[in-house]
Amino acid sequence: MSDLKQETKQSAAKVAATMKDNDSPPPLIEVKEITKKYGTNVVLDQLSFDVSPGEKIALIGPSGSGKTTILRILMTLETLNGGRINIDGRPLWHKEVGGRLVEADEAHLHEMRAKIGMVFQHFNLFPHKTVLENVSLAPILTKNIPRAEAEQSAMELLETVGMAEKAGQKPSQLSGGQKQRVAIARALALKPKIMLFDEVTSALDPELVEEVLNVLRKLGEETDMTMLLVTHEMGFAHDFADRVLFFDGGKIVEQGPPDQIFTNPQEERTQSFLKKIVGAGRTI
Ligand SMILES: Nc1ncnc2c1ncn2[C@@H]1O[C@H](COP(=O)(O)OP(=O)(O)OP(=O)(O)O)[C@@H](O)[C@H]1O
Ligand SMILES: [Mg+2]
Repeated sequence: MSDLKQETKQSAAKVAATMKDNDSPPPLIEVKEITKKYGTNVVLDQLSFDVSPGEKIALIGPSGSGKTTILRILMTLETLNGGRINIDGRPLWHKEVGGRLVEADEAHLHEMRAKIGMVFQHFNLFPHKTVLENVSLAPILTKNIPRAEAEQSAMELLETVGMAEKAGQKPSQLSGGQKQRVAIARALALKPKIMLFDEVTSALDPELVEEVLNVLRKLGEETDMTMLLVTHEMGFAHDFADRVLFFDGGKIVEQGPPDQIFTNPQEERTQSFLKKIVGAGRTI
């Protein structure tokens, strides 16, 4: 290779490297002016936000502010009345047909849903199936993964959530915290890019909360999964999240890094919400 060619190649590599450093990746989730109404009750009001790949987001805010609703819309469990959502650059609730956006059909929703997993406050495990079956069944049935392979992956996930030795038990033989850890493993078994957690510790006895938070901490630290988490555990949200969104009245009133939101909130509504939470004995 001539010196000139060598130099050109090197500077092209340099430019590419600089672009890589400067260009932030395109958002994995784009929520654009979403509106959701129940009758005349406007639950989400022109709500917009983006989430980058790998970002950990905590959603906080008073009861009824729309936190569960936005997660359920992302999980396609709830329809929307206006606005758009893109996941991984593709419309979630719409489909492009001949350059036009039309409402998505079930096949499109099914395909998009595979990118997202959700864990709820109540675990909804299959009561008559073992822990191992609860985690391995969906990959076998929906992804045609051979049973032996699905069970091996399920055991690895149960290991991750500290539940491997309970693989043969039924949900009724487990504590609430253990059930919730199995529910987390079950959602992870479908290998989603995005995980949604809706108050996953709020139905648990206080002494069981920490074991579930530890699993979430581990997932946050050891995986590059994108995670959105609704919680009233403010101390946990502070440590876990890259960014905190404070919801009120179906809008994001304030957002920022946890240090800013929890120690120096700018909006009066954020300040009064956090004061109330601390007053209720939840530490930050
Ligand atoms: N299926 C439904 N039918 C009618 N109204 C609903 C329905 N689901 C939610 N809502 C209303 O939507 C609003 C937002 O509810 P959402 O469950 O999203 O709040 P939230 O922020 O998750 O509250 P919480 O902290 O209590 O869980 C509330 O006013 C609620 O009453
Ligand atoms: Mg809720």
